[in-house]
Amino acid sequence: MKLKNIISTQQFQDRSVLSHLFAAAKTLEQQHALHQLPSPLAGKILATLFYEPSTRTRLSFEVAIQRLGGQVVTSESAGMFSSAAKGETLADTIRVLNGYVDGVVLRHTDIGSAAEAAAHATIPIINAGDGAGEHPTQALLDLYTIDREKGHLDGQHLALVGDLLHGRTIHSLVQLLPLFAPAAVSLVSPPSLRLPRDLKNLLTEKGIIVFEVTELAPTLVHSDVVYMTRIQKERFDSEEEYGAVKNSFCLGKAALDQMKEDAIILHPLPRVGEIDPEVDSDPRAKYFQQTRHGLYLRMALLQALYSNAD
Ligand code: NCD
Repeated sequence: MKLKNIISTQQFQDRSVLSHLFAAAKTLEQQHALHQLPSPLAGKILATLFYEPSTRTRLSFEVAIQRLGGQVVTSESAGMFSSAAKGETLADTIRVLNGYVDGVVLRHTDIGSAAEAAAHATIPIINAGDGAGEHPTQALLDLYTIDREKGHLDGQHLALVGDLLHGRTIHSLVQLLPLFAPAAVSLVSPPSLRLPRDLKNLLTEKGIIVFEVTELAPTLVHSDVVYMTRIQKERFDSEEEYGAVKNSFCLGKAALDQMKEDAIILHPLPRVGEIDPEVDSDPRAKYFQQTRHGLYLRMALLQALYSNAD
């Protein structure tokens, strides 16, 4: 698998590449359990450069890098504490890091920032979220979780719930769905937060049945995978606009009775009210397993990037 950067899930339009990646992630998990992890990143130093908040993405990448024998330098809150606070451009920051480290995991406020960074670098750039644009490694780990927890995505009814307009994990995930043959995709959002048309068209052009709805309850009955997301507060112009939609969906214990017994519930996290903590003990709640699968999937991506780098 040839990978130079990870910018968008448009780079992963090949099911055999995904299968290879998922198998590698599973192998890494087994090797880890046996204390037999390989060290493909030995001698490499990567930077995590984060201009927006993060818990899982940054820390799982930092753990993944170190478990594979590499080292990490980090600039979290880079908007505040890097030279960006003095007015330095992203291009200049990347040019400098290009001379220091062997790769950059970048989270930035602006759509297109990861592609821009890659244009100024010879080292690998990994997009860990570019504003409301994409979050490709999250979407890959989401699919890996479906693969591990459900076996496959073909023939499944998938419900994508929440802020489909701004949710970058959704944008990246939707671009991968045409590779599979889901029975249907339900897009559940307030009318003002619908999935952008071009992304919806990617599904319908492939003949995937799409339902665009505003109510969660009727969708739950026939969904196999329920993917909840947070209303993306930071993308709204005002507190009032956010306030009008912030509590649009909450999956509570009562809703579980409506769901199929073998359905799974996912969430990229953080949740801020979309899933009641009472749901956590239900066997269908897979969002914490999802974070764990994400660690190994990110290790598999790093392995793929650096096995080609030399
Ligand atoms: C997501 C993100 O940052 O886009 N979180 C994550 O990386 N797991 C989802 C979100 O913040 O709502």
